[in-house]
Amino acid sequence: MIETVHLYRPRGSARLALEARDPEVLLSGPAGTGKSRAALEKLLLQALKYPGMRGAIIRKVQATLGSTALKTWREHVAPEALANRTVWFYGGSAEEPAQYRFANGSTIVLGGMDKPSKIMSAEYDVAFVQEATELTVSDWEAITTRLRNGRLPYQQLIADCNPDMPTHWLKARCDRGATRIIECRHEDNPVLYDEPEPGTCVLTVPGAAYMSKLDALTGVRHLRLRKGLWVAAEGMIFDEWSSDAHIVDAMPAGWETWQRYWSIDFGYTNPFVCQSWAEDPDGRLWLYREWYMTGRTVDRHARDILSVVAPKGHWAEPRPHLIVADHDAENRARFEAELGLGTTNADKNVKDGIETVQRRLRPAGDGRPRLFFLRTALVERDETLEDARKPCSTIEEIPGYVWAPSPDGRPVKEEPVKINDHGCDAMRYLCKELDPLSRPSIRVMRW
Ligand SMILES: Nc1ncnc2c1ncn2[C@@H]1O[C@H](COP(=O)(O)OP(=O)(O)O)[C@@H](O)[C@H]1O
Ligand SMILES: [Mg+2]
Repeated sequence: MIETVHLYRPRGSARLALEARDPEVLLSGPAGTGKSRAALEKLLLQALKYPGMRGAIIRKVQATLGSTALKTWREHVAPEALANRTVWFYGGSAEEPAQYRFANGSTIVLGGMDKPSKIMSAEYDVAFVQEATELTVSDWEAITTRLRNGRLPYQQLIADCNPDMPTHWLKARCDRGATRIIECRHEDNPVLYDEPEPGTCVLTVPGAAYMSKLDALTGVRHLRLRKGLWVAAEGMIFDEWSSDAHIVDAMPAGWETWQRYWSIDFGYTNPFVCQSWAEDPDGRLWLYREWYMTGRTVDRHARDILSVVAPKGHWAEPRPHLIVADHDAENRARFEAELGLGTTNADKNVKDGIETVQRRLRPAGDGRPRLFFLRTALVERDETLEDARKPCSTIEEIPGYVWAPSPDGRPVKEEPVKINDHGCDAMRYLCKELDPLSRPSIRVMRW
């Protein structure tokens, strides 16, 4: 038998993660500290050590697991075990979720809380939840009820995330002690920092390149992804925003026939944004599809959009009643020619546009807002933006969309900071178009 060696040296917070036996553990920290790696290494160890162990790797949307946690699993955590068939992949069936199966009888299933039925009917010893801030508290609690397989001396929900709002339910859960939080640091990742002697840290060459990307981030993204802080942006423009209230996992029944609107913000170096909205009978707007992409021409975008809305030349959904676009005449002409649809010039009054969005985000008389976002609206993730850790969709822009500070540093609610605002621009064009602001107007009385 050929012996294979798998090397992983956990340091600092990663070591704490491996040793933790608490029922709920959250690895919280900025991007690239080794959180996901530590959790996956722990799962592998547990699966090998306890035959018959049942684990789960879960993310809110199952489709997003492949490019993230599972990539790390295949490339860094389990390549040796996969190569010598200690573990193999099973693609799943109508009854069973996709999973990794081990020669010793252990299994690790893969799933998303967007389609929970397959994974939530079984019992587990441990579950790793990736990007746990995406979950609702009921998702989280549902997972804890499944942890009772009894093959390990302890059962555990281990999760990782980048920090979010300070008011997030997961942070509150940690603050009141229900979940143990382990703060992860860049210095704990040996790819980024060498530790020639215990307690000393030296940036590696790839570390310097990676950290300079994070250093270039601004605002709330810098605070969260570089510094690992649970903060809200100072001067946040859409401060009514809450992922619980505004993001939905599915469109409501009957939406197929609702009126459609598109909203466009052109860009090449900056992302091109095209949002498709559906309007329900009560006038609420639902963002159900979005293109958010740099480095492609308008002709290319128009063709990509057509291939989705009208595959093989037949419209698969209602044509947009209205397309609002920014004032770029050349790009509008090209877009119109390619799609055979006319566009309307957006009203570019920024403050009014923002106000119409703010009103829609606020709960109305029935307690519900007037603006919703489908979690899976994004058609394709832009790898260039992802790599630069910039927002990759409108949903990702909103928490960092802030008022420009006045010279004395205080936000003055006049002008937004004009970066990472492309989806927010498209959104305000449409809201402004549909909701005329009711300002006190002067009535001319004749008698
Ligand atoms: N102890 C370690 N040894 C070797 N590589 C590591 C270690 N910790 C993290 N890495 C690598 O660093 C990269 C970032 O780690 P990852 O777990 O994805 O970070 P995070 O989840 O915190 O964003 C991955 O390629 C991972 O394999
Ligand atoms: Mg990660």
